[in-house]
Amino acid sequence: MEYIELAQEAVKAKENSIPSYSKFRVGSALLTEEGKVYIGGNIETSSYSLTICAERVALFKALSEGERNFKAIAIASDDSDFCPPCGSCLQVLNDFCRGIEVILINQKEELKFFKLEELLPFPFGDANLK
Ligand code: THU
Repeated sequence: MEYIELAQEAVKAKENSIPSYSKFRVGSALLTEEGKVYIGGNIETSSYSLTICAERVALFKALSEGERNFKAIAIASDDSDFCPPCGSCLQVLNDFCRGIEVILINQKEELKFFKLEELLPFPFGDANLK
């Protein structure tokens, strides 16, 4: 799958997000090594801190279906700026998707590409738990 198509899946994934309080819609599309796509939208709750980001929705859907090997994740919001993954998502992505390509798409459908290590260059992880 082309990365532009993955990014467009992230744009579509915003449609099912539930940003009841922030009104900030985020959509995410996660591509497995085998070419399957899992999508997610951010979900907010009345107890604000229980909100879950679009990226983790997509990732946990995939993990719970048995997926373990990931190639890329695309992230979309309605903003003219690019929406990078938050710190919590970077941590979780680093734990389960090391080396993944991160593709950001803004409202104008422009793309920006990063390797996860560029966004989280000195991560805590498994190796620290000796
Ligand atoms: N949000 C995401 O879904 N992904 C991110 O990486 C950044 C933030 C959501 C969480 C919350 O629902 C809203 O955006 C505002 O913070």
